[in-house]
Amino acid sequence: METIKIGLLGFGNVGTGTYKTLEMNRKHIEANTGLSIEISKILVNDINRKRDIKVSSDQFTQNIDDILLDPSIDIVVELLGGIEPASTYMLKALKNGKHVVTANKAAVAANFDDFMDAAKRNQVMFRYEASVGGGIPILNALTTALLANEFEEILGIVNGTTNYILTQMTEYGLDYADVLKTAQEKGFAEADPTADVEGIDVANKLSILISLVFGIRVPPEEIPTEGITSISKNDIRLADQFGYKIKLLATAKKAGKQLEAHVQPAFVPKSHPLAAVSNEFNAVFAAGNAVDDLMFYGKGAGPMPTGSAVMGDVIEISKAIAKGAAFDHYSESKAVKMLKFVGEGQNKYYVSMMVKDVPGVLGSISTTFGAFGIGVDSVLQLSKDANSDREVPLIFILHEVTRARLDEALDKISKSKFASEIKSVIRVM
Ligand SMILES: NC(=O)c1ccc[n+]([C@@H]2O[C@H](COP(=O)([O-])OP(=O)(O)OC[C@H]3O[C@@H](n4cnc5c(N)ncnc54)[C@H](OP(=O)(O)O)[C@@H]3O)[C@@H](O)[C@H]2O)c1
Repeated sequence: METIKIGLLGFGNVGTGTYKTLEMNRKHIEANTGLSIEISKILVNDINRKRDIKVSSDQFTQNIDDILLDPSIDIVVELLGGIEPASTYMLKALKNGKHVVTANKAAVAANFDDFMDAAKRNQVMFRYEASVGGGIPILNALTTALLANEFEEILGIVNGTTNYILTQMTEYGLDYADVLKTAQEKGFAEADPTADVEGIDVANKLSILISLVFGIRVPPEEIPTEGITSISKNDIRLADQFGYKIKLLATAKKAGKQLEAHVQPAFVPKSHPLAAVSNEFNAVFAAGNAVDDLMFYGKGAGPMPTGSAVMGDVIEISKAIAKGAAFDHYSESKAVKMLKFVGEGQNKYYVSMMVKDVPGVLGSISTTFGAFGIGVDSVLQLSKDANSDREVPLIFILHEVTRARLDEALDKISKSKFASEIKSVIRVM
């Protein structure tokens, strides 16, 4: 039986999950591929660290060249995390004629073109299924089985940490800060949760999805991105009253020859399939012009689900190596690169504000929205807050408008004698 040798970079959550997936299903993989896949070397920071998995100590190394310069290694699997040194190691591996698999969305989103070019130039494969949606095989499906489709829109809940926090806030009426603390204690959120809660992780994943689905490159830092830190339990309660759940959504959609994309918390109608995606689960919703609506659902993180996606890439490459046909279909540039990225486009919005409890306030604010060309879909005036003297919460659902135009209108309203504070502005799907 032909043996394919792997050099593993990193043996943390996903590294061990990948190792365990291979060992757990080794016989099944061999029977189905006719190949033996062997992890021959593992790069770690600390070779003396005690690990909860038994691996021969001479497999570990702290020297990257033991893997990059080893001619017997066919595939380098990068599971270190962070943009550097991971990106440099992957580019060197590709240059050295090794196929590369990674779960590292930050590195892929930051250096997408460089990886694609290096893979093409060196006639090797570069795969990153686990970088979007963890265990959900979305990238492979979009680039193989669904290639006969054009997609108008792609929407995703692709961060388990924030979806867990929003779900817990919704189900138990809890505050953001309390849920974040519990999520950290349970291991659903990292000690430094910034990349998750500020939407940066989702922007990386959306950037990757846009490259594959729409054939244009939009760096993550150019995608308008907002996290969940300002979502209050009040917003969640009001969303419920209007018939919505709040989810952190990655959205990319075509509008003629333009592409709109953003990462924002959004009111999702309770009837939409994405509203039912709870806790650490992820889902990607896509509408193809032949296949129609599709939703991919599953675990977006965790050692074994992510290990499953990593091994899927490793097996695909191994089979291609055995056939002598290891080229990269992901890196084939799409014929249509005609779309122009225009930022977030127009959206419906929910706006909550505190206003003076005096006659004429509703009319005045609605007139200001009207003067900026913003139509009001619905309004809810709540009874007086016990703590605020002569102030009442006023809630609007507004028709489609650009965020810049809405901000101009809100600036004018907040300077008027009626409104005391704009509390929240959240997109409505
Ligand atoms: N965790 C998930 O559920 C998940 C899901 C999808 C994608 N991902 C992605 O998968 C990647 C790995 O995540 P993880 O959660 O497995 O990370 P992790 O648990 O922190 O593991 C990182 C591993 O890499 C090693 N390492 C880090 N920097 C190194 C360096 N400069 N030189 C040598 N070794 C180094 C560490 O060595 P030591 O063990 O010696 O410290 C450790 O084994 C990240 O890109 C992440 O975004 C993770």
